[in-house]
Amino acid sequence: MSIKAAGRTFFLETKHSLYQMKADSRGVLKHLWYGENTGQDMEYLLDYPDVSFSGNIYDAQDQRSYSLDTMPLEYASEGTGDYRISAVSVCHENGASALDLRYEGYRILPGKYSIPGLPAVYAGESEAETLEITLKDTASDVRVVLKYGVLPEYDVITRSAVIMNDGADTVMLNKAHSLCLDIPYGSWEWIHFHGRWARERNPQRLKLLHGIQESSSIRGTSSHHQNPAVILCKEGCSETNGTCIGAALMYSGCFQAQAEYDQLRQVRLVMGIHADLFCWELKPGDSFYTPEVILSHTENGLQALSHQFHRVLREHVCRGKYQKAERPVLINNWEATYFDFNEEKLLKIAEGAAALGVDMLVMDDGWFGKRDSDTLGLGDWSVNKEKIPGGLDGLVKKINGLGMQFGIWFEPEMVSEDSDLYRAHPDWAIRIPGRNPVRSRFQLVLDISRADVREYLFRAVSRILRLANIKYVKWDFNRSVCDWYTESLPAGRQKEMPHRFVLGLYELLDRLTGAFPDVLFEGCCGGGGRFDAGILYYCPQIWCSDDTDAFERTQIQYGTSFFYPVSAMGSHVSAVPNHQTGRVTSLRTRAVTAMCGSFGYELDLNTLTEEEKEEVKSQIRAFKEFGPLIHNGKFYRLSDPYHDNYAIWQFVSEDQKETLVQGMIFRSEPNMLRSPVVLRGLDPQKKYCLREDGRVYSGSALMAGGLLLPETSGDYVPVEFYLSVSLSH
Ligand code: DGJ
Repeated sequence: MSIKAAGRTFFLETKHSLYQMKADSRGVLKHLWYGENTGQDMEYLLDYPDVSFSGNIYDAQDQRSYSLDTMPLEYASEGTGDYRISAVSVCHENGASALDLRYEGYRILPGKYSIPGLPAVYAGESEAETLEITLKDTASDVRVVLKYGVLPEYDVITRSAVIMNDGADTVMLNKAHSLCLDIPYGSWEWIHFHGRWARERNPQRLKLLHGIQESSSIRGTSSHHQNPAVILCKEGCSETNGTCIGAALMYSGCFQAQAEYDQLRQVRLVMGIHADLFCWELKPGDSFYTPEVILSHTENGLQALSHQFHRVLREHVCRGKYQKAERPVLINNWEATYFDFNEEKLLKIAEGAAALGVDMLVMDDGWFGKRDSDTLGLGDWSVNKEKIPGGLDGLVKKINGLGMQFGIWFEPEMVSEDSDLYRAHPDWAIRIPGRNPVRSRFQLVLDISRADVREYLFRAVSRILRLANIKYVKWDFNRSVCDWYTESLPAGRQKEMPHRFVLGLYELLDRLTGAFPDVLFEGCCGGGGRFDAGILYYCPQIWCSDDTDAFERTQIQYGTSFFYPVSAMGSHVSAVPNHQTGRVTSLRTRAVTAMCGSFGYELDLNTLTEEEKEEVKSQIRAFKEFGPLIHNGKFYRLSDPYHDNYAIWQFVSEDQKETLVQGMIFRSEPNMLRSPVVLRGLDPQKKYCLREDGRVYSGSALMAGGLLLPETSGDYVPVEFYLSVSLSH
């Protein structure tokens, strides 16, 4: 049993952590602890002075120190004397915004709850337990059910809330966050992941100072600019040591994560749908379900936290055939041709790739309608016969004849004004009546909050997928959303639209992935603009960034790896000079970097020299050999590519019998000293043999002294060591 109730104190235990809360005698649900498993009721730590200007709820009577403004709360509401950031805000029929939530009861259920219409961690009855705590407003019939999913073996606790209107009047829900986590003690920092197009997920670590720190998106997607995942860590927490708590929101739209450091030096973290673009009408009897937050805690530093997230995302978020099946090595024609391709060109690219061992050709943007540039054609999902005269089936048969599988690109949620779809249904594009819409990449966004639009898209995409033997879909989304307005809702409910848009996306993805279970769906949003745990529920891999430069990718993939597993990161070898940066790196360097992901190519391999082609063959052989270790092993960040002159990472198999160290040394220096790189995660007692020269090292030597990085000349020199347990020693 991972969930225990002792009176009204709740203990949620995972293998190494304890989450604790208590409904006190007044029914206020206080947060007591989230940290290592002390085996103790931690309420003794809560002791508050009489803080002036922090009022007392009425039933506190003469207890001046009893204030919602100072105590750690499990789900903070607005309007009843807690002046910190709230998790929930409700406006009642009379216009007043207040909720005084008190404990009503609890249920413990086997297994893990699911959330209607939203992605959520899934688990069997032997793997998880659910706790539901019901709170009720003192003055209305608004109830909140807090849901906790405990996966003890994973050191993971999930949270979500249901806000129910059990009264006779309609209420407006102005804010409904998924998480409220109060941490009363310690000196905390937070790490969030910022960026921009082609520069996603740069970690930024900041000391929490008094006031509010925020990471959020109002772009309609989780965005390139901030990622819906943050870490709270104690001062001094390193990769290998120290206390940290990670929170990843399973949501792909506008989100908000805020950390407040308050007057009493306590931290409150809230996370959920962005409140500025949200309001939901709750009629009598209605319920609202928030998305889920995945929480994990460790005392063993950031790498252990990452391992916990990687494992739960791989095993309890990703689904379907490709959750476990090896991913195909693919070649994508985008950077090889952009829009300028036809069947003949594609076949040449495919022939060249097939000869070198590539498994799949992916036909990117430009195959449909009149799509010869990014100014037109989106929405017309029928094959352009001028480019592909034999039709899709004809092309796919030829590709299959080469021994390759076939994949295809879509951007279903978008429309070009110059398209038959737009001419037929201009009202399907999002725009505010009486205003010109904002164009971005010349395109408009379809209102997928509407069922008729989703039905059209389901049919359009399914029709194409049934036309031929298609085994992969790249699902793109190439702009941020604004002009939020939908004809399907009255004026007073327009703020429901951003969330309804995301619900629409999930419904569409759910239907399509359900209808085509053998197809590998890869998420994409101009690279990694919608890289989140919500998308991973439908797409086990996501195109990590439109920046394919190997050096840049070491940083992007490093930042991405704090939460997301390597198997989730689409990563390709592209041409040099690199199209985004103009940088030239060797073919080997590009491959080593791309292998830290779901591997593929993004260039015309026919343009390579014979020697390079041989190298590609051996890269593909290497990925086939190391793929299971890379995708299922533990991933260690051995350096910080923002500060060190090298990026080195390591994979270790579950049984600790093999390890692969890869990376690159950035810049050459005269009289360069060879730095040792210290390995991790090995068995100190075992002897490991370096494949390169047969030398044998003990696990303890590798983890104390390490291996010397090679002597280098030139920049961006690749590094690769493979070691496996030596049977003869
Ligand atoms: C953005 C994607 O990230 C690229 O890989 C490519 O598919 C283009 N869109 C096509 O328009």
